[in-house]
Amino acid sequence: MNDLSIGVIGYGLRGGLARHAHRPGEGSRVVAVFDPDVDAHRRFRADFGDDVHAGDDLAAFLGLGLDAVFVLSPDYLHEEHALALLDAGVAVYLEKPMAITTEGCDRVLRAAQKAGGRLYLGHNMRHMPFVREMKRLIDAGAIGEPKAAWCRHFVGHGGDFYFADWHAERRYGTSLLLQKGAHDIDVLHWLCGSYTETVTGMGERMVYDADQAGDAEPWWRQQNNLTRWPPRSLTGLNPAMDVEDVSMLMMRLQNGMLASYQQCHFTPDYWRNYTIIGTEGRIENFGNGEPGTVIRLWNSRHDYDADGDSAFPIGPETGEHGGADPRIVAEFLRYVRDGGATETSPVAARYAVAAGCAGADSLRAGSVPVRVPEADTEVTAYFGE
Ligand SMILES: NC(=O)c1ccc[n+]([C@@H]2O[C@H](COP(=O)([O-])OP(=O)(O)OC[C@H]3O[C@@H](n4cnc5c(N)ncnc54)[C@H](O)[C@@H]3O)[C@@H](O)[C@H]2O)c1
Repeated sequence: MNDLSIGVIGYGLRGGLARHAHRPGEGSRVVAVFDPDVDAHRRFRADFGDDVHAGDDLAAFLGLGLDAVFVLSPDYLHEEHALALLDAGVAVYLEKPMAITTEGCDRVLRAAQKAGGRLYLGHNMRHMPFVREMKRLIDAGAIGEPKAAWCRHFVGHGGDFYFADWHAERRYGTSLLLQKGAHDIDVLHWLCGSYTETVTGMGERMVYDADQAGDAEPWWRQQNNLTRWPPRSLTGLNPAMDVEDVSMLMMRLQNGMLASYQQCHFTPDYWRNYTIIGTEGRIENFGNGEPGTVIRLWNSRHDYDADGDSAFPIGPETGEHGGADPRIVAEFLRYVRDGGATETSPVAARYAVAAGCAGADSLRAGSVPVRVPEADTEVTAYFGE
C-alpha cells in the first residue's frame, strides 16, 4: 500500500491532527504545508522533516498532486480553501465550522457534489466517548422517546482564547454562538436525530470590553493561564471585539423535538453539560472525558437524587480531546482511501452552521424567531442523506 500524501493548510494549534496522520510506511505521510506564517513553516519542518514543502503560495501547493489536505486555517478562510481543494480534485478534511455563513456552506457542499469529491468535516465531538455513550443510551431506548435536549457550555478560558484575536470579531466568525456552538449544535442534532427548523436567540456582551486591550502578548494563545482571573482583569484583548460573551439559543427541530444551547465565556470552569429528556427518563453527563466522567440515567421517579438510577462511567482515553482526535483522523484517512459512511456528516455540519447563523440573526434582531433554510436535496442526496 502506497502512503497517501497529505498536506496541511494552516499549521497552528490544530496542527496536532496532521501529526496523527503522519504514518510513513503505514499508509499516510504528511508532506506539505501552505501557511503565510514562516514560523509555521519552521514548526512544520521540525515536526515532519526538512524535505517537506513549506510555502505561502496556494497555487504551488495545489500543484503538488496531494491526495488529501487538512484545512486548519481560521474559520473565515474555510470556504475559500475548501473550494480551491475540491476544484483541484483533492480530498478535504475541513475543520469546524464548515464556513461562517449558511450560503458559504452551501457553496462548499455544491462544489463537492459537482466535483464528485471527498469532503469530510472535523466535528471531533462525535468521536468523544462521553458523547458516543449518550448516543448509545438514547438509541437503546434508555430514556424512551427523546423530546427535549439541553446543553450548557461553560467556556472558562473564553477571554484568553476568544476575545484576544480574530474570534472576537463578527466579520471573521459571525458569532461565538456559531464558532463554539457549531460543535454542540451538531451534537444536539446527532443525539436528537434531526436538524433545527426554527430558532430564537438571546445574547449580549456583558463582561469583556474594549478597555481590556492593552499590550497583546502571544503567550495567551499558547497556554490556558489559570491565574488570569477574574475575567475583567484580563488585558491584551482585541479592542475591535463585537461578539457576544453570553449566547442562548432555543431550537425547534424538524422532528418536533425542542433543544436549547447556552454558552458563557466568563465562567471559572470549562466544560459542557448535556441533558436529554425522553418520555421514560433522562440522561446527563458529568465531565467531558476527564477521569471520573460519568453519564447518569434517571428512569424512575425521585425527589432530588444526584446519583440517578444508573451510572455509566467513561473510561479515560489518551490523545487530544479525549481520544477523539486520533480516531477522527483515522476515520478520515480510511474515507480518503475507501470512501463509505462516516460518523461526521457534511450536511449535518452545514445545519450546525445554519442554526448558529440563524441564532445570531435572531439575537441581534430582538429575539425574533428565524427559520433555518433547508439544504438543497440534490446536494444532501450526494452525501447520502
Ligand atoms: N475541532 C476542534 O476541536 C477545534 C479546536 C480548536 C480549533 N478548531 C478550528 O480549527 C481551526 C484552526 O484553529 P487553531 O486554533 O489551530 O488556529 P491557529 O490560529 O492556532 O492556527 C491557524 C493557522 O492558520 C494560518 N493561516 C492564517 N491565514 C492563513 C491563510 N490565508 N492561509 C493559510 N493559512 C493561514 C495561521 O498562520 C496559523 O498557522 C479554526 O477553524 C478553529 O475553529 C477546531
